[in-house]
Amino acid sequence: MGQPLVDRFARVHRDLRISLTDRCSLRCTYCMPEQGNEWLARQSILTLDEIVEVARVAAASGITTFRLTGGEPLLRTDIVEIVRRLAALESPAGPIEIAMTTNGIRLPEVLPDLVDAGLARLNISLDTIDRERFHALTRRDRLDDVLAGVRAAQLAGLRPLKINAVAMRGVNDGELADLVAFAIAHDAQMRFIEQMPLDAGHTWDRSTMVTREEILAALSERWALTPVPGRGGAPAEQWRLDDGPHVVGVIASVTAPFCGACDRMRLTADGQLRNCLFSIDEYDLLPVLRSEVAPSERAADVDRILRNCIAGKKAGHAIDDPSFLQPARGMNAIGG
Ligand code: 5AD
Ligand code: SF4
Repeated sequence: MGQPLVDRFARVHRDLRISLTDRCSLRCTYCMPEQGNEWLARQSILTLDEIVEVARVAAASGITTFRLTGGEPLLRTDIVEIVRRLAALESPAGPIEIAMTTNGIRLPEVLPDLVDAGLARLNISLDTIDRERFHALTRRDRLDDVLAGVRAAQLAGLRPLKINAVAMRGVNDGELADLVAFAIAHDAQMRFIEQMPLDAGHTWDRSTMVTREEILAALSERWALTPVPGRGGAPAEQWRLDDGPHVVGVIASVTAPFCGACDRMRLTADGQLRNCLFSIDEYDLLPVLRSEVAPSERAADVDRILRNCIAGKKAGHAIDDPSFLQPARGMNAIGG
């Protein structure tokens, strides 16, 4: 225990994404079916104590960033306590940072408490600022609630504040520059994500995906784009707009995968560790977390499973490989 989590390709893992629930207040068509999925069984959802137990072992082994995702993480009634307990952990590898990816809807109510509890970074998912289009895409007429959430985030002062959009042909591809302008007006950084084959309906098609090149071409019509050097291990490549203070990010997960620098692992809401968004294998922590053994023994068991998971990590996602298989879980049950 306590050794860093290094895989066969010498990647050191620093980032654990924790999906807190598979439920969501929206039904984005690329993520969930209309009726929602068959939800994870309630009794299999990790409790606050179980999440902290896994995170404590992970932190001891060099995980320093915990990103809370969903589904929609703010649907957890214990979200403030989760942030508080995770923020209090310690890692030999450096200070702990708690980040969250949310659809923004409950932010006005909870953000002050989250910041007080130690939340440091926020990403808001927002694919369109057109009300009708938002309703059609998310099957919920809640754009105003999300906009209130963005304003709450702007006021809360967590920086850099990021707004993420999946670029989609015929949906928001005519609106990319407007989204950038919207982000700038809210002191946020806009980031576009190439759509990955993670939709519940298995309708993803490489030929209709909006690529990084197309995103850049669309933005070039409004701004001169200069690449910002030093991407490091970050998934987003950045471009500066008109040599000014603002940048835009593009996460080219499909056309320029960043698997070689990946330092992430994932924990699903029902206690499965995953070494990749696209992995087929999962490493089940539930039996260990719910066993009757002494806490020290349980921590050793969690540590062993974390290491098994990292040992099984593949070089990359190989979306382009003919043998590529889409994972059985949808994005809402894996965590973004
Ligand atoms: N491809 C890329 N990004 C996706 N997201 C959800 N599904 C996909 C997909 N198939 C994004 C959401 C959100 C984050 C959690 O993941 O839009 O920003
Ligand atoms: Fe909810 Fe995010 Fe899935 Fe949209 S993409 S339905 S906001 S979990």
